[in-house]
Amino acid sequence: MYSIDMNNILIEQTKAFVDDTTYPISNICNVMALIFQEMEQLNWVGIYYYDKEKETCYLGPFQGKTACTPIPIKKGVVGTCADTRQTIVVSNTHEFPGHIACDSASLSEIVIPIVKDNELKAILDIDSPILSRFSNEEKETLEAIVELLVPLF
Ligand code: SME
Repeated sequence: MYSIDMNNILIEQTKAFVDDTTYPISNICNVMALIFQEMEQLNWVGIYYYDKEKETCYLGPFQGKTACTPIPIKKGVVGTCADTRQTIVVSNTHEFPGHIACDSASLSEIVIPIVKDNELKAILDIDSPILSRFSNEEKETLEAIVELLVPLF
């Protein structure tokens, strides 16, 4: 779907956007826009911030249609990621128990935890209107992008 070269270019572009950390949320906004523009067949890209006191995920910078917020821990794909702190690739959202359909167009999804100093800070959530959109290479690329974003949280 997306060549290894293009994945590397996306990582290099992300580095350019996280270079200047004067106001971190601006950089996060730009990286959400970058992913949304550069990766094909996506309908939503965004951040959910995790509030550990409330054990709840709150909508952050995103591209796409208005989205669900808040999402409690263990609810939906995002809340499951908050609970397990593992990347989750959902090939078919209709088959994920408890999937929260903010946009009925979303058919596949990937969520990646953003962990800093062993603490969950946020979750990167990406939706696609096609089934099985996210390959293993793209999962690795997106995890590399998340690593670059960690200092911004
Ligand atoms: N589908 C997610 C909700 C967030 S939206 O995809 C933007 C979930 O099940 O947690």
